[in-house]
Amino acid sequence: MTSLAELGVPTARRKPRGVPTRHHSWGVSGGVDPAVSVGIARLYQLDCVEGMRRLLPDDSVSVVVTSPPYNIGVKYASYQDARPRQEYLDWIERVAREIKRVLEPEGSFFLNVGNKPDDPWIAWDVANRLRQSIVLQNVISWVKSIAVEKEDLGHRSRITGDAAVGHYKPIRSPRFVNDCHEFIFQFTKSGRVPLDRLAVGVPYQDKSNVRRWKNSAEDRRCRGNTWFIPYSTIHSRAGQRPHPSTFPVKLPRMCVLLHGLSRTGLVLDPFAGIGTTAVACMQLGVPSVGFEIDDDYVAWAKDRLSEECGKANHTSAALHIADVGEEAQPVSHNTGEDNIVKMED
Ligand SMILES: C[S@@+](CC[C@H](N)C(=O)[O-])C[C@H]1O[C@@H](n2cnc3c(N)ncnc32)[C@H](O)[C@@H]1O
Repeated sequence: MTSLAELGVPTARRKPRGVPTRHHSWGVSGGVDPAVSVGIARLYQLDCVEGMRRLLPDDSVSVVVTSPPYNIGVKYASYQDARPRQEYLDWIERVAREIKRVLEPEGSFFLNVGNKPDDPWIAWDVANRLRQSIVLQNVISWVKSIAVEKEDLGHRSRITGDAAVGHYKPIRSPRFVNDCHEFIFQFTKSGRVPLDRLAVGVPYQDKSNVRRWKNSAEDRRCRGNTWFIPYSTIHSRAGQRPHPSTFPVKLPRMCVLLHGLSRTGLVLDPFAGIGTTAVACMQLGVPSVGFEIDDDYVAWAKDRLSEECGKANHTSAALHIADVGEEAQPVSHNTGEDNIVKMED
């Protein structure tokens, strides 16, 4: 196993906000070349368990943000996403044990998992399996689409009518309602890891609350455990999202911010896909490492990261989640979209 320094991963805590990010040398070691080495991001075309074992020392990762295959028959380029449930859970448990090994004592492991309508236990089966080895500290609902009626918004809302926002894949079945959310489980080693709740906080609706509550000197309160993160609208899957099951960049960004940017050294995504977590980390100025078995996805990740690296002001642009407009959505687009493919009827 190689040391973090050999990998080029900084072992000290991250610099304070606003300090320009140093781009690390990412020296190749351990006989494994990264398939992608762009700025502070590295991706390896490797099985994640093998990659973690070969490259990552114990207690070396501050935050893991990842979304594994859900075992629902998604057509990935390389991975076969349909296995007997027990075999799938055994595999997820092996991955999680390795994640636990590499996670710092005060680290956070954010695991995004969803269900499909005719198999609504998948996410809970996964969480329950991991329960034996790691503590479930928070359960967050990732809301992809929501409809809010004006009458429910209260008199202070500046929204003037009914709102229906976000994308989902409609189900044509009389048995099931459309599935518009997934889970983000935050696992930690102790269950007692402090969070930077206000880093993903929201402004008070009623501004008189700003000074009323102790500790609320700024106009920000905890957002809670429902996160509305819509997919951006795409016109061509092949050109714009060449992977059947990605999450929006905002999702890993919010996870890292919630864990605490100043406490974040290295971020890991063991199921890197087309590098969404790495893109988020680059925007935040945080080093990341990822593993992905498919060469096409790795190639797409490289292009995305190169483009992101070329953009100026990552760090300052990303310090406030609301400032980053990459996931901006038009309203009332929640029918007929086929850009969410994590569930099938
Ligand atoms: C749900 S996708 C992750 C997508 C990613 N979050 C993104 O936004 O691009 C799961 C990924 O895991 C990859 N994968 C499957 N088995 C793997 C393994 N053993 N090691 C590493 N990656 C694997 C698949 O090829 C797929 O791209």
